[in-house]
Amino acid sequence: MSLRKLWQKLTGAKPPVWVLTRPGQGEFEQVAPYYDHLMRTVPYRQWVDYVEKLLRRHQASPRKVLDLCCGTGQVGVEMVRRGYEVIGVDLSEPMVKGCSQQNPPLPAVVMDAQRLGLASGCLDLVVSLYDSLNYIIQPAGLEDCFQGVNYALGPGGLFIFDLNTEHALRSGLFTQNNLDTTDPLQYSWKSYWNPETRLCRIDMRFRWDEGEQPVQFTETHYERAYEETQIQQMLTTAGFEQINIYNAYTLNRPTRWSDRIYYVAQKPQ
Ligand SMILES: C[S@@+](CC[C@H](N)C(=O)[O-])C[C@H]1O[C@@H](n2cnc3c(N)ncnc32)[C@H](O)[C@@H]1O
Repeated sequence: MSLRKLWQKLTGAKPPVWVLTRPGQGEFEQVAPYYDHLMRTVPYRQWVDYVEKLLRRHQASPRKVLDLCCGTGQVGVEMVRRGYEVIGVDLSEPMVKGCSQQNPPLPAVVMDAQRLGLASGCLDLVVSLYDSLNYIIQPAGLEDCFQGVNYALGPGGLFIFDLNTEHALRSGLFTQNNLDTTDPLQYSWKSYWNPETRLCRIDMRFRWDEGEQPVQFTETHYERAYEETQIQQMLTTAGFEQINIYNAYTLNRPTRWSDRIYYVAQKPQ
């Protein structure tokens, strides 16, 4: 089935032309082919266990799911394996290509989360994991994202996402390297926190040394730290209610030392 037809079947709408053609931006471009290798120790299965725990807590039994900012589709694919109908969207074309290489492949398209073009009420659940929404660095863009998600959810639909906290971004979470290992993908990252802009800039250097010729590249990423109250306000403005927040992977309230917070927001019935 063509991507266009699949998209239509799952969302009930024709994909806008730019959905199929829009190239990604600088972030997650060069690193995309190595992303799954880089993330091979990330416990995606346990993260989906946690999402399901949140679904049970909020008495939700979704069927149609959007993996928002899906990357190479690891969360979405794990959900497909568990019987959900999942589509993915991501801004980076090379990351979206990775979705087609998963087993099973995740149907995914290039789309900006700030300009979601999905049919009204076509989804039961939207998930966005692994600090993807910190990458939307303009508050107005995140508001647009929340509005788009709300529009695409049916009555009672849930939006579950995580965000890195200011505590995580200012404490050098992303300053790290693996240069003392024999991993074929060597990386060295330095992060810089700016309290005025609330942006964390991460300068990333990579070297892949497994082919005939080593490949070297750099990427610069930006994540924004949002306040809990700001996110709650934005979600309310976008039409969500019953907004719950959790210290990641627990059912406890976040503390000031939390690195990552999960938000669960519901569209009114
Ligand atoms: C840290 S990765 C996480 C990917 C995936 N959720 C996972 O768990 O592996 C962040 C992803 O967000 C995507 N992203 C950033 N800004 C975006 C936007 N405005 N619209 C859609 N995707 C975006 C990036 O391309 C990247 O794939």
